[in-house]
Amino acid sequence: MSETDPSGPTPQHVAIIMDGNGRWAASRDRPRAFGHRKGVEAVREAVRAAGELGVRHLTLFSFSTENWSRPAAEVEALFELLRRFVAADLDRLHAEGVRVRILGRREGLSEELLKLIETVETRTEANDAFSLNIAFNYGGRDEIVRAARRAAVALDGDLSALTEADFGQYLDTAALPDPDLVIRTSGEYRISNFLLWQAAYAEFVFMDILWPDFDKAAFQRAIAEFASRDRRYGGVRHG
Ligand code: IPE
Ligand code: IPE
Ligand code: MG
Repeated sequence: MSETDPSGPTPQHVAIIMDGNGRWAASRDRPRAFGHRKGVEAVREAVRAAGELGVRHLTLFSFSTENWSRPAAEVEALFELLRRFVAADLDRLHAEGVRVRILGRREGLSEELLKLIETVETRTEANDAFSLNIAFNYGGRDEIVRAARRAAVALDGDLSALTEADFGQYLDTAALPDPDLVIRTSGEYRISNFLLWQAAYAEFVFMDILWPDFDKAAFQRAIAEFASRDRRYGGVRHG
């Protein structure tokens, strides 16, 4: 049961749009890459806190299909952080029983990065204590289009009997429950192409805090806010 609110429900799957690294760095007169490096520390803290708070699946938006429009040096810095995160944290995550998945488009990634993704996913595939999903080169529309193509190939072009549940099996998140809670930091109120299909009935919590400052206390606040919501799924208020 959640440490935050023993009477409230804990979200099983939390997804986070980790935003605000650049502004965090700018407010300290430092380059954006400095903010991204601090952002990785907040990632470590979020993974630890999620486990402690009873969350089972954590999905983090770390590079979007639209982030390619940033200066090449920043794109390279973001890619380098993924490599370093894997180099520094994979052994520990594996020892803790964390299953790591990388969601997103594989096309456009280097052979070396594809190999790294393969290593991470195969090494941790038998783990089931916690699932960490990193959305990297991910866009919700791109994922839906890729899923539609996969479905068409698998079903020989006949999609006439395709159900929502069937379609979900062609998404990158096939093995995951839908997120119950989507958090966005940095005070922006938008979804920026994240989990468009899966977030159909998620609760959204928008926080002013910049991602490098996100810590367990902030995570607890988001979960407490989630617990206070009445999820009606199109029905009527319960009780
Ligand atoms: C991190 O924050 C999100 C990523 C794309 C890695 P930003 O880099 O978007 O920081 P802001 O929004 O410019 O402050
Ligand atoms: C969303 O943040 C993408 C990630 C957190 C990886 P952005 O900073 O790219 O989103 P916009 O540009 O504010 O919509
Ligand atoms: Mg941003």
